[in-house]
Amino acid sequence: MKTTSVIAVGAVALGAVTAPVASADEAPADVPAVESGQLNWPIKESFIHHVDTNPLAKGIINTTDGAEKVGKDFTFPVDAAYTTLDAEGNGTIGTQGSVQIQGYPGFGPNGSYGVDLTFSDIKVEVAGQNATITADYKLTGASGPLKNKPVELSGDDAAISTFTLTEPLVPETGKSYATTDAPTSLTQTGSDIFLGKYPVGQPLDDANSDLTVAFDGASENAEPSDHGAPEKKPSGDNAAADGSSFHGSSFGKLGETIAAVVERVKKISAFFSDLVLPGLSLSKYV
Ligand code: HEM
Repeated sequence: MKTTSVIAVGAVALGAVTAPVASADEAPADVPAVESGQLNWPIKESFIHHVDTNPLAKGIINTTDGAEKVGKDFTFPVDAAYTTLDAEGNGTIGTQGSVQIQGYPGFGPNGSYGVDLTFSDIKVEVAGQNATITADYKLTGASGPLKNKPVELSGDDAAISTFTLTEPLVPETGKSYATTDAPTSLTQTGSDIFLGKYPVGQPLDDANSDLTVAFDGASENAEPSDHGAPEKKPSGDNAAADGSSFHGSSFGKLGETIAAVVERVKKISAFFSDLVLPGLSLSKYV
């Protein structure tokens, strides 16, 4: 939770005392501060795609406070005020915004959404090249159709997903870093949130993430270099759900669109082949 678990640059640590006591988490004054950056995190593309396109799911995706859905990614601007990196580049990168995914209206307890998942206060904890995406999360719903098994999970600053940075984020005035297309793996908590449908600790094939970080003075560099925050090319919200996608191939957007249509047809037919009315049995669902 942002208000209690992170400290602003120059502020005092948790359990606030009034005197400006130096904290281990605080970057020394001579270390350049982070000025901007962005986390691009698809979360798990096939899940988002499923909720977004399944006819019964009637998915709704809400982003707030600067977060956006751009193609396959959710983009979260770095919040410099909640970012502290030490001289080695270790620490916490705060971001702005939250994302809420809702689907299967009426399938949850008391007519609520069958799945209603929110991630907020999303941060990247950095130790050398190891990056961990943490978030406050809240999940409510049911663990599947007609199972009448309510699900309610929540947590603060929970580690959800991990990835590797291309290099440590050693602070340097005017310097920018970019890690692009880094495979992410779910933690135990991350896997639990998705009802254990994705394994713990194995790179997901459709959740590659980007992180850019620019230190003070970077914005004054006249020539934008390839170190700068990469512009997110909208790759289409309907990218292939299995992540096999045509990512990076010459098929480009057309390929993605075709893949999305094929995927959609496959999913819809699979869905209806499992559907037994009026009992509404979805045999594949666990
Ligand atoms: C706590 C709530 C729920 C969570 C976290 C959840 C999560 C998931 C995940 C992670 C998948 C795999 C998607 C993929 O990668 O392709 C999935 C698939 C699916 N979900 Fe859910 N789900 C929830 C509730 C529901 C409900 C209430 C229904 C139906 C009323 C439902 C119907 C389905 C169907 C039909 C599939 C596709 C078949 C399958 O992969 O098993 N889900 N769900």
